Amino acid sequence: MVKVLFVCLGNICRSPMAEAIFKEKLKGDGLENQIEVDSAGTGDWHEGNPPHEGTQGILKEKNISSEGLRARQVKEEDLEMYDYIIGMDAENVGNLTRMKGLKKSGEIARLLDFVEDGKEDDVPDPYFTGNFDYVYELVDEGCERLLAHIREKEGL
Ligand code: 4NP
Repeated sequence: MVKVLFVCLGNICRSPMAEAIFKEKLKGDGLENQIEVDSAGTGDWHEGNPPHEGTQGILKEKNISSEGLRARQVKEEDLEMYDYIIGMDAENVGNLTRMKGLKKSGEIARLLDFVEDGKEDDVPDPYFTGNFDYVYELVDEGCERLLAHIREKEGL
């Protein structure tokens, strides 16, 4: 089983959106038994909470389920357990890299680094911008390219 973890700051806006979108793509490709996905936040303020209403709203509009998504903080063990640890922005990646220390762990990368010639490098935080539609567009494209990368690397 290949394990993918999406990480943002609060785990209520961007990374649960990425988790839900990625799961939908896995279902579409019949890969839900080969690739497992979860999300977490570098902060702990929203532990146990469902996604932000903006994330729930855009997922509903796109007919993607947000059932069962609950915020949690990223733990050191995650960095050893997951094969692909995908941050939404440079700050997330910096925090993850610092947490990783010298331990062996999976690939840490930024979601939009998989999108060549994309409009943005970081997924802007809709908790502050309020623009969930734009974030959906970026995250959807990032997930599409990430899945292609994983399929190629893992021979799936
Ligand atoms: P996220 O957005 O990292 O995309 O989940 C945020 C959610 C909450 C906070 C910051 C960002 N906060 O400061 O509570």
